[in-house]
Amino acid sequence: MPTHYTVRRFKPADMDRVLEIERASFGKDAYDRKLFAEYGRKCGGLFLLAEGSRTVDGYSIACVSGKYSNLLKLGTSVASLESIAVDPRARGKGAASSLLKSTVRRLKLQGVGRLTLMVRRSNAVALRFYERRGFTAVRRAPGYYEDGGEGLVMRLTL
Ligand SMILES: CC(C)(COP(=O)(O)OP(=O)(O)OC[C@H]1O[C@@H](n2cnc3c(N)ncnc32)[C@H](O)[C@@H]1OP(=O)(O)O)[C@@H](O)C(=O)NCCC(=O)NCCS
Repeated sequence: MPTHYTVRRFKPADMDRVLEIERASFGKDAYDRKLFAEYGRKCGGLFLLAEGSRTVDGYSIACVSGKYSNLLKLGTSVASLESIAVDPRARGKGAASSLLKSTVRRLKLQGVGRLTLMVRRSNAVALRFYERRGFTAVRRAPGYYEDGGEGLVMRLTL
């Protein structure tokens, strides 16, 4: 059954819970405390948590990264989804959907025109999640991951 999630900004006191979700989701590829602290400083307004009735079940981080040019939207800002993960025990209940929806809303308010991300091509669950939410594949990134795994750049026009 879907859970009602409140989405709010990350605070330093949330760090241990974020690390728990991260390790349970990515194992040896998990980001460490230092990297999350850096994201908190650099992209704090878009480092978000999905909170259910009792616990924080997921987090996402997006950073506004620069501008892209094309004939129609000259100089529009772009953002990248740096990471998103949900506690394995809480998946399939809408936490990631709530996080993405809130991220998109916040980005639009800032006038950001595009959200990109990198996903492992072998991560079928995440790929499907992004495709169902309107992201399209832009290009392949062979050998992007440390273990030689291939990445796929995806993009959502906001
Ligand atoms: C990808 C991920 C963030 C999705 O999180 P989530 O909170 O389960 O996502 P939601 O519940 O909002 O949506 C999941 C979709 O799978 C379906 N689903 C149903 N049961 C599910 C289950 N037990 N587990 C996962 N998904 C399930 C949902 O109905 C939904 O379907 P839809 O796309 O047709 O709407 C999560 O699987 C995760 O943390 N994966 C590991 C980390 C990861 O790969 N991150 C992405 C890196 S690029």
